[in-house]
Amino acid sequence: MKQSAVSASMMCIDFTEMKSQIEQLNRAQIDYFHIDVMDGHFVPNLMLCSDIVNAMRALTTIPFDYHFMVEQPNSIMPLFDIRQGDIVSIHVEGNWHLQKSLQYAKQKGAGFFVATNPGTSLSLIDAVVDEIDGILVMTVNPGFAGQKLVANTLSKITAARQLLDSRGKYDCSVQVDGNVSFPNACLMRKYGADIFVAGSSSVFQKEFSIAEGVEKLRRAIKQGETDE
Ligand code: DX5
Ligand code: ZN
Repeated sequence: MKQSAVSASMMCIDFTEMKSQIEQLNRAQIDYFHIDVMDGHFVPNLMLCSDIVNAMRALTTIPFDYHFMVEQPNSIMPLFDIRQGDIVSIHVEGNWHLQKSLQYAKQKGAGFFVATNPGTSLSLIDAVVDEIDGILVMTVNPGFAGQKLVANTLSKITAARQLLDSRGKYDCSVQVDGNVSFPNACLMRKYGADIFVAGSSSVFQKEFSIAEGVEKLRRAIKQGETDE
């Protein structure tokens, strides 16, 4: 089983405390900062602005995990400071130039993931699967934090893992994004996920600190490895 990683959803931080929240994530040794970019067209929401995201880079050395939910990813991507070791996820839906997105991400030294909405078939990835570094399985319809898991996406996690393995791509990842709560993270691990986006369902909750949330999530993921 591939080693797990946690990617903190930066749209879920308290923006009045941005610097201190990033410092807490640094101390918790989070694996990635998940950067949701939305254009108000691909999804009916707007965030995170490139100036703010690029400014975040001065506060951490942890890699960024960009998730572009935009209609024109190839024009939007160059606004962001994409670096060696980052992840770039681009949706397969409505993207006529996916291979061009891939070339851009690779040229920046980033890993390239293809993202799929809950209602999208994995068969659409087939033409690029040999070139990608992972699949992002959206476990809610993208756009907003705080939604409920779309249950049939669990089996899609396994199908994504099987698709990668069938092409000999054992090192590639299956990332899950949306309602990754502690019990869901445990389940998603069993179904074959290895990168977990931590949002309002886990790490960013009023009842406990970011450090405690990260710890609880890591424990839940581990639980998914040991349970039957
Ligand atoms: C949606 C986002 C979210 C979110 C995750 O496009 O990527 O899924 O940050 O947070 P929760 O845990 O609220 O679903
Ligand atoms: Zn996301």
